[in-house]
Formats: sequence, structure tokens, C-alpha cells
Amino acid sequence: MFSYLRKLVFLLLCVHSMNALADTAPANPTLPSTFRFCVSTAAHQIEGQNVNSDWWQWEQAPGHIKNGDTSAMATASWDHVDEDIANLKFLGVDNYRFSIEWAKIEPKSGQFDDAMLDKYIALIDQLKSQGIDPMVTLYHFTLPTWVSAQGGWEWDGIADAFDGFVRHVAARMGTRVILWITLNEPMTIITAAYMSNVFPPAKNEFKSVGLPMANMIRAHARAFHALHQILDTDTFKVRVGLAHHLRIFDPRERFNPLDRFIADKFDEIFNWSIPTALNTGTFKFSMPLVASADYFIPEAAGTQDFFGLNYYSRDMVSLNLLKNPPLIRSLKTGAPVTDLNWEIYPEGISRLIDGIHARNPNMPIWITENGLADDSDEKRMPFIRAHLAEVAKEIDKGIMIEGYCHWTLNDNFEWAEGYTPQFGFFSLEKGTLKRIARPSAQAFSDLVKATKAGTP
Ligand code: FCB
Repeated sequence: MFSYLRKLVFLLLCVHSMNALADTAPANPTLPSTFRFCVSTAAHQIEGQNVNSDWWQWEQAPGHIKNGDTSAMATASWDHVDEDIANLKFLGVDNYRFSIEWAKIEPKSGQFDDAMLDKYIALIDQLKSQGIDPMVTLYHFTLPTWVSAQGGWEWDGIADAFDGFVRHVAARMGTRVILWITLNEPMTIITAAYMSNVFPPAKNEFKSVGLPMANMIRAHARAFHALHQILDTDTFKVRVGLAHHLRIFDPRERFNPLDRFIADKFDEIFNWSIPTALNTGTFKFSMPLVASADYFIPEAAGTQDFFGLNYYSRDMVSLNLLKNPPLIRSLKTGAPVTDLNWEIYPEGISRLIDGIHARNPNMPIWITENGLADDSDEKRMPFIRAHLAEVAKEIDKGIMIEGYCHWTLNDNFEWAEGYTPQFGFFSLEKGTLKRIARPSAQAFSDLVKATKAGTP
């Protein structure tokens, strides 16, 4: 009996470790050889010295950033341009997504630093000379202090101000960049800055989120029209999108009506209220007894040439009106997680792509961000392969997904988390900030090569 039990336990352990192996070593996915690979970054997280931005101010106050970190020199990206471009080449990516820092280009209202803008232009020229196409983000979480001082996203002049910045950039840039992202993740700003105290201006007030959301939609619309107006010619056409952070919200208890209700509400408001506004011009949501918005922004209708999807994780949600707080977001019990305790849930990306496609049947999709904090580097490639396998399935269904940007090139300044999370293909040597390839950099480069050769 005893030995029978021992055998059973041994067998179960074998099956378990086989599963673990299968989980950690999925094969490379079969993607079309024309599929575009990319990595994403953001100015404030890599450049350093963003001294005229709201984030720089925010970081100086104790308690805002983990371990008292500040962006300071960040990855000193301007001192490592050649090294970073060589590493992009090594990865074999077709595109590099980065942002142009408004606070550096327009440190004071109407005063533009063209020498700084020319550095970005030189970077773009250098990337293109290496066969890497830029994807340029115009707002990635940071505002110039002259904008935040007037109320930031609540200021009724912000769409005009953003339009001025975008027009200036476009006019000087000329026809160098086809792919533009107006705003990065409006809903991250809304939840981290207007529904909690994680990002500036730290206004924890759900009931008033309608206004900053509406202003983001207005700013996006203005930028979309400005870029097309200034840059399009008969032979050159820009393609403009927004990088949406979409998440899966599943009910904590599948058969609990309140949990289902709140999961659906989150999906409707967090995931789809802005994309719907960019399709129809109507921005509307209602969370009974808590908050609602109803705006008509006609200039926003039809303002996406492609859909940018940033996908990271899922939340299990539950609602219990007898508890305080009544709404709980939690992790699925037993789920695999990243170093930041975000659930690793690759199926989520295909569920969201289905949702995007159902609402925008003819719109091409870009995965503008996907990645994980993984100091060990052991989960990175299985994570990428598993997500790309989902993407491949969606492409097989006939959905047009043009490319995948991994977050990110180098470990960087991860906002409120400081330098703790390790999201990069490359880590940074202490002191010198020399880039050191993790094993996943080679494996990703192999995956890209194999895909292009049609031999995954
Ligand atoms: C995304 C942000 C990006 C980075 C990753 C980890 O939500 O767009 O700047 O912080 O998360």
C-alpha cells in the first residue's frame, strides 16, 4: 500500500513537472513572415533629467516612489544611443517605439527647444539608416509643469496646448515618421492619478474622472487631425493611433451576480468607453451612484488609423455592498505571476483582440506594449511565446494584427515602482549603465529571425 502511494506521488510529481516544463517552454509561435517586431520605451523612464515635468516634481517628495528612487539620470539614454541602437539591431526589431518629451520640447508655454527636438530627429534618422522604423508617442504620462500648474488634464486649455506642441513637432519633423501614438494609456492616468494617489496629481475622486477623460479624448482628436493636416501629402500618409491599456476583468465568483455586474462595468468603462468615443464621438459611461459622464466630442469620431493595444494582465473583481471597500480587485488564486504580482494570463490578449475586432472590424491592430517584470529572466521568453501564440491564433482567424512591441529594451524607471522591477531585455551595469544582455535577448532575436525566415 505504502509503495503504491509512493509510486502515485512520484507519478503525480512527474506529470506536474512535465506540465511545468510545458508551461515554461512553449514553442515559437507561427506568425506571418511579414509580422513586425518592436520594442517600446518612454522618454521619462529612460532619458533622465526631465526637470520641467510634473513627474520630476512628484518624485522629489518622499513617499511617492518605492525606496525613495527618482528618475534622475534614468538609463541615460542620450549617452547610450549607439549602444541601444546596436542592441535593437541585435534583437532584429522592425520598429522602435519611444516618446518625445513635451516638457523638454516646450518647457515654457510657447517656447520651444528646437535643439532638443533636433536630437529626436537625429535619433529617428539614425534608426532609419539602420532599417528600424520609428513609432513616436507624443504623451507618455508626463506633462510640462506649466500645464500641470493650470490643472493638467482637468484644464480646459489642455487640448489647445497639446495641439500647439504636436503641430510644432510635426512641422519640424516633416515626413520622417509614419506611425504616431497620440496618448499612452489614458485609463492608467485616470486610475493612478484620479482614482488613487499613485501618480500626480493624486486626486482620489472617482466621481470627477469624466472631465480628464473627456480632455484626453479632445487632445487625442486634435493631435490626430493636426498630424494628418500637416504631414499628409499625395504620396505620404501618417497613421495615427492611441495606445490603450486594456485589461481583463473577470468576476471573482463566476455565478455571483454582483461580481458579474462589476466585471462587466469595469470592462465597459475602463476598456471601451474611450475606444467607443474615438469611433462615434460620444463619450458616455455610468457607474450607478458613483460617477457618470456624457460628452459629445464630434471631432473625435473616426480618429484611429490603427488600434494600439497595451496588454499586461487580468484582475478578478468582486462587489459586496456590505463591505468597506465594497469593490475588491484581486489576483486569481494560484495563478502564475510576474515579479510585480501581475497575473500571467496570455489568453487575455486574444479575448481583448476579439473585443477590439468586434467593435472595429476593419481596423488594423498593433500590440503597442506587452511585457513583464522578471528579474530571473526565466519567465520572459515563455511569456512572450505564449502571448505571441495567442496573437498568431487571432491572425489565423483573419484579424489584421501588424506587429508586437515588447516592453521594454532596458530595465528602467518604472514610475511609482522606481528601479525595482526588471522589465528589460537588457539590465544595466551599476555605475556605468552599460547594457548587459539577458539570455532572453538572444532567444527573442532567434524568434524574430526564425519568423522572418518562415521557420519558427
Ligand atoms: C505600462 C506603461 C509603461 C510601463 C509598463 C510596465 O502601463 O505604459 O510606461 O510602465 O506599464
